[in-house]
Amino acid sequence: MTETKKRNGFASGIGFILAAAGSAVGLGNLWGFPYKTGANGGAAFVIVYILCVLLMGSIVLVAEMYLGRRAQANPVTAYAKTNKNLGFVGLLVIVIPFLIICYYSVLGGWTFKFATNSFQPIEQATNSSPTFFGAFISNPFEPIFYTLIFMLLAGIVIMGGVKGGIEKASKVLMPILFMLLVIVAVYCLFLGEGVGKGLDFYLNPDFSALGFDGVLAAMGQAFYSLSLGMGIMVSYGSYTGNEIKIGKSIAMIAIFDTLVALIGGLAIFSAVGALQPELLGTDALGGVTLMYTVLPQIFAQMGSFGQVVSFLFFAMVVIAALTSVISLLEVATQFVIQKFKIQRKKATIILCGLCFVISIPIAWSVGGAFDGAITLFGFDLLTFLDEMTNTVLMPVGALFSCLAIGWFIDKSTSVKQRINPMQTFRALEKDGLEIGGFGKVFAFMVKYVGPLLILFIEIFGIRGKILTNGTHYWWVVIFSLVLIALSLAVYLIFFKNSDTGCNLDELVIEENAKKE
Ligand code: PFF
Repeated sequence: MTETKKRNGFASGIGFILAAAGSAVGLGNLWGFPYKTGANGGAAFVIVYILCVLLMGSIVLVAEMYLGRRAQANPVTAYAKTNKNLGFVGLLVIVIPFLIICYYSVLGGWTFKFATNSFQPIEQATNSSPTFFGAFISNPFEPIFYTLIFMLLAGIVIMGGVKGGIEKASKVLMPILFMLLVIVAVYCLFLGEGVGKGLDFYLNPDFSALGFDGVLAAMGQAFYSLSLGMGIMVSYGSYTGNEIKIGKSIAMIAIFDTLVALIGGLAIFSAVGALQPELLGTDALGGVTLMYTVLPQIFAQMGSFGQVVSFLFFAMVVIAALTSVISLLEVATQFVIQKFKIQRKKATIILCGLCFVISIPIAWSVGGAFDGAITLFGFDLLTFLDEMTNTVLMPVGALFSCLAIGWFIDKSTSVKQRINPMQTFRALEKDGLEIGGFGKVFAFMVKYVGPLLILFIEIFGIRGKILTNGTHYWWVVIFSLVLIALSLAVYLIFFKNSDTGCNLDELVIEENAKKE
């Protein structure tokens, strides 16, 4: 058997790129990016966002893909292979996606409901009636039912494995997503007079509206949108061999992700400009209101054709969210299979079951069921987890990815030599990282610029949140720190000196299961 045949992973470069792009493209692109752009100075925000993707996002993406590639293993083993003590970061970036699945699936479930509800008779216009959304999410059963469906869909794909599940699903779903996006965007662009007003609001650069907070928002959005610091690229990268080029793949993933966000914004702001121009610049375009209240009303204004547009739009968002949850689920599944030597099917069932149980109080909390009794320090559980993972923990994961590659890989040279980016560059090249002429720039960025920028986001991001939310935001920070400390303790006590597995383990486990 040749080396490539023996490898457990993606069969083709395009399969990998589509899967990774599937992870990146999600609610963040089709909902978060447009409203943040509108609120932070339009094209001024877009320019800063693109700079963040180029200067930071792509650096961390390369670092994480390469971490996985060289280890051919789950994130715990991958980080530990740069330095034994860093294995705890692997554990942390497995726990973070696990927590994200629990609330992201609730939102996926809501979206699923809106897609299936699109064809209600116009006179009932369920989706668009002003009280529908509130009544739906505060119902104690329905949102949970849709969350379950959404999780089952992700679980079925994960059970199929990397090649037979994730790669196959991404190859079908991602082209459909892009097609739906283009159809919806073109339709919205031709809605008539107000479109120009909407686009003007979306894309006219206004640097005075950007400000420091806008720059921070752009940085955070770039991280979230590219799924950085979550073990995703480490895990997906581990399923690739040298035949899949790192530099080219990362460029395509980053371009695709940014393009989808930009086109998503075009569609949404054209429609708002044409049909609800009075909402431009108001709070109605932020948060959940835009997606689940304003857009359904706009679709209803489009008459019976609006039902089709509503279905196409929400189906597209369901696909985007689903491929993101698939990637989140794979990180935990990969680790459970490899560490505990159990079959993929069993690992998936255990993880989906656990996530579903945790998602129930989250759905009740965010929906306000039981008169909004379920809260944590004044936050609903979804917001609390979202803040923990995105504002505090994601930058921590990304920071350690840069440190692992920039500072820990090269053990052969003295500390003094290691400070020199050229030494790092040579060490990385010797270690097998091929990114052509970009290598030297990468070494410098991953060593200095990346970590400093990430620290900057972390510190000012948290400071800003405390200023706007009040001191109870400290609880989000404290819980995050506890999670980091727990990951460290569990890793040092239970995992540091044990076998944490690699991708080939799965092949052996499945072969043994077949023999029995
Ligand atoms: N990148 C996804 C989005 O833009 O919606 C969300 C996401 C997926 C974040 C996976 C983090 C992650 F690990």
